Amino acid sequence: MPATRHLEQNSQGKPAVSGVNERIYNFCAGPSMLPEEVLRQAQEEIWNCRNSGVGIMELSHRGKLFDDILHETEETARKVGSIPANYKVLFLTGGATSQNFQVPANVLPEHGVAAFLTTGYWAERTWDEIGTYTDRAYEAFNGKKEGYKHCPSDAEIVYKDKPVYVHMCTNNTLYGTQWRNADGSIRLPKVPDGSFLVADMCSDIFSRPVDWTKFGIVYAGAQKNVGIAGISIVVIREDLLKPIRKLPNMLRYDVMARDESRHNTPPVFPIYMCNLVFNWILKQGGTSVLLKRNLEKAQLVYDVLDQSKFYKPHARTDSRSLMNLTFHTPNHKLDNLFVDEALAAGMDQIKGHRNTGGMRASMYNAFPREGAVALAQFMREFEKKHG
Ligand SMILES: Cc1ncc(COP(=O)(O)O)c(C=O)c1O
Repeated sequence: MPATRHLEQNSQGKPAVSGVNERIYNFCAGPSMLPEEVLRQAQEEIWNCRNSGVGIMELSHRGKLFDDILHETEETARKVGSIPANYKVLFLTGGATSQNFQVPANVLPEHGVAAFLTTGYWAERTWDEIGTYTDRAYEAFNGKKEGYKHCPSDAEIVYKDKPVYVHMCTNNTLYGTQWRNADGSIRLPKVPDGSFLVADMCSDIFSRPVDWTKFGIVYAGAQKNVGIAGISIVVIREDLLKPIRKLPNMLRYDVMARDESRHNTPPVFPIYMCNLVFNWILKQGGTSVLLKRNLEKAQLVYDVLDQSKFYKPHARTDSRSLMNLTFHTPNHKLDNLFVDEALAAGMDQIKGHRNTGGMRASMYNAFPREGAVALAQFMREFEKKHG
């Protein structure tokens, strides 16, 4: 990390501790750290995009330059994810939260059945909204009673009526659980024959290889692993594009696919940022290399948790997220002290979500290994001092 200038304030607007570098380890759950070279290039192209004399944020969304950027972004997304040709890649606005209504609006008939695997806060929010479209949805699993500590085995999932689709959230950002195997690869739930999976991949898209053919629709806000807020990536199987009911154009996947995600003025800058991050991922060696790195980074911290009698991890071992690592100290007072001392040591935004308390260290694709090393070391020292 470059040490070019001292900070005046931290992300909470409080005076910064002196001696902390210009860029610090940002453990925010999203928006989150971007690769340094991406930020540097964006800095230049905000001023002058591809030597056109026009900044990226001043560029016409119908001009040749943006045409190129948009097409490259889709191409690189396909390359990064190895997304098959019969899936469309859309860049939409409204955040991942808008998919809570856009998915059922397009694919779920009136009174149609949909099943939900409620594994955390965001999955809960998706489930909460389905009532607008149907009265026949149900939860095939709900982990709330046990504090959303794990992602269920097939034996824990109970399907009743056959659903059109099953909704899952592959990584539960708040609780720090992830559908995964021991090697970090994605673990999928059983799905009734003829139903398809819809996945909220907001907090782990493109952090590991994925077999897209297992899904009908995948969606994710870009602001954690692939870019900045203001854009959602939707990967959708072509046969699901045409809506099953009359819908306004802005809600229709087929219209967005036909118009290359620019039925209206698209989020030009967020699309541009995704392109830079996708290219960065390719340069790193792709999602298998990122998975290996993400496993190593997470393991550095999970090792501390496993060797400690002081820290209490939230997630069950078999569902531990590689993206968001959640834990507590023995009490609230120490939790708060941990957050304050971590900030003073150059580690920001490590406070857990208000629903869970404690700490949450989010370490997405661009989060550097040295940051994980620094956190692990800080945790050991904090335990020694206060344990
Ligand atoms: C798993 C998950 N789903 C959905 C969302 C909501 O995304 P957005 O704010 O883009 O609507 C988030 C945001 O943090 C998330 O982590």
